[in-house]
Amino acid sequence: MTSALPEFEDWLRATVERTTSVLDELLPDPGDSDPAHLHAAMRYAVLGPGKRVRAALVMAAGEASRSAGGPPDVLDVALDNAAAAVELVHAYSLVHDDLPCMDDDDLRRGQPTVHRRYGEALAMLAGDALQPLAFDCLAQMPIAPALVVQAVQLLARAAGSDGMVGGQAVDCAHAGRTMSMAALQQMHRMKTGALLEASVLLGGVVAGASSTVRTGLEAYALAMGLAFQVVDDILDVTGDAGTLGKTPGKDAAHDKPTYVSTLGLDDSRDLLASLHEQAKTALLPLGPSARRLHELSDFIIGRSS
Ligand code: IPE
Ligand code: IPE
Ligand code: MG
Ligand code: MG
Ligand code: MG
Repeated sequence: MTSALPEFEDWLRATVERTTSVLDELLPDPGDSDPAHLHAAMRYAVLGPGKRVRAALVMAAGEASRSAGGPPDVLDVALDNAAAAVELVHAYSLVHDDLPCMDDDDLRRGQPTVHRRYGEALAMLAGDALQPLAFDCLAQMPIAPALVVQAVQLLARAAGSDGMVGGQAVDCAHAGRTMSMAALQQMHRMKTGALLEASVLLGGVVAGASSTVRTGLEAYALAMGLAFQVVDDILDVTGDAGTLGKTPGKDAAHDKPTYVSTLGLDDSRDLLASLHEQAKTALLPLGPSARRLHELSDFIIGRSS
């Protein structure tokens, strides 16, 4: 039997390269645009070796929805823009998450965090500047204006106080406190799940998903969004800095409520297996076009960084 894995790895590598080159084109060049130090910090934040999982989810969901039609090259450009936009919002969230007033981290993607390299004020401003760039990027998608508006709203809501930023505020308020499972799940869903969910749904919106496909994507995205942070919590306990590219043990050091601190490692792993199952079940009605989404769920659950 031939394994599907090498082919998936090739696909993922190509997706990462493609999105990174779109981001490279999009980010201002410090060599010919001022303020050069701000633009250098923005590029440093975004172009470091991230996994680009959110970009891959946009592409995979686009592939699962594409049967709805539309000229392929135009769709490709729109999916590239959507993938770059979520990665910009994600990169900004990491820059701010690492600041001393939040998680106070020195290492990200295997290199010094943006504030360690460029100072706190510039790190804050680089994060700020990445947000409008993301929405500008979405606004340039060559698809029907109504779909562009839908995409902008999706990302805005996922990133805002009902989503990522809201989840980060809950996270900051709960250091040293225990949380109920329901509250913990809600926090994870907001701080991390929302942006992963938006990535999947953006792929669907841009590629014109049918309502059956959309329903499947929503259930898949909900399960994988939560699963992503459960894995992150586990890796904070079991991972090493060399593989993770960030300092492990920070959640315990800051007394953060996580899945591991609340459920323990074994139950967190059981929960992960059940979220994985939910995600795969959600894809059943989509048939073979959901192959990359299936493979990405295996990748996200099994990752070690
Ligand atoms: C880390 O995200 C932060 C979380 C939301 C858990 P990733 O693990 O996707 O980070 P990169 O982009 O690969 O560096
Ligand atoms: C971060 O969660 C979620 C974000 C919105 C960035 P963590 O604080 O656990 O992410 P890491 O472990 O620093 O990457
Ligand atoms: Mg954090
Ligand atoms: Mg952190
Ligand atoms: Mg973490």
